[in-house]
Amino acid sequence: MDFKNKSIISLRDLTKEEVEFILQKSDEVKSDKHPDALKDKVMASLFFEPSTRTRLSFESAMISLGGKVFGFATQDSSSVSKGETLKDTIKMVTGYCDVIIMRHPLEGASRAAQEVSSVPIINCGDGSNQHPTQALLDLFTIKDKFKKIDGLNIGLYGDLRYGRTVHSLSMALSHYKVNLYFISPKILQMPDHYKLYLNQCGLKYFEAESLEEVADKLDVIYVTRIQKERFADPEEFVKVAGSYKITLNTLGMLKKSAKIMHPLPRVNEIDTSVDNTEHAIYFEQAHNGIPVRQALLGLVTGGIR
Ligand code: CP
Repeated sequence: MDFKNKSIISLRDLTKEEVEFILQKSDEVKSDKHPDALKDKVMASLFFEPSTRTRLSFESAMISLGGKVFGFATQDSSSVSKGETLKDTIKMVTGYCDVIIMRHPLEGASRAAQEVSSVPIINCGDGSNQHPTQALLDLFTIKDKFKKIDGLNIGLYGDLRYGRTVHSLSMALSHYKVNLYFISPKILQMPDHYKLYLNQCGLKYFEAESLEEVADKLDVIYVTRIQKERFADPEEFVKVAGSYKITLNTLGMLKKSAKIMHPLPRVNEIDTSVDNTEHAIYFEQAHNGIPVRQALLGLVTGGIR
């Protein structure tokens, strides 16, 4: 399977075989099978929106396999702040590197960048749309914990309207025989076009407004924060702020084997008292960003085949 020069923009672009291949290569990287896969490769890291995990784990992934990194972490420190367009920025940076990772507040920005780039683009989040590398590390984590994905009952809990991680993850899970549970306040429900996509894929999903309705069925509870920055109307945010929270009391409703995931950052939707329980795997999940992003960088730059 040849990923060289392939951009990673949306889960919609990846077949099940390609997803499984990326997970297999992530396993290999974790076992130190590709120590110099990124030697002499250069990555441009263009973040027009804040990030801790995605940017730093990509940079760490690159450096740890022998690559080099440059870039910016805020829009203010690029010439976009002087009025330069995204496409002109990408055309320039293309000449300086072997791969571009980028995050942008506008949906479709990575796809637009891909159109003018001669090096692969990896989408690190475009508005409320997609976050494909997060979905891949989420799958990697589920597979690592349960040794399978098929047959699991997976609950996506929280802001399903604006949360790009749950959009990408539900598309990724459409390749597997899982039952999906969408649990959210009414105004934060999964958008219809994702539900239509899942229907077309033949994936079963159920909707609920409270975790209590489905808690005892779930193998995975994937929690998301309310994406305050995406609300056009601040009053809408006020209506749902603080409307759900996982606490030690919640754990009594769950299967003993259930795992709680979260793409992070967390604000207040999981109490810190949950962190040291057997259910909490969100920090481990974030650390899995390293092997998955190492594998992706190796694949698209040709250092891993
Ligand atoms: N999960 C995630 O995308 O985190 P950051 O916003 O910190 O990159």
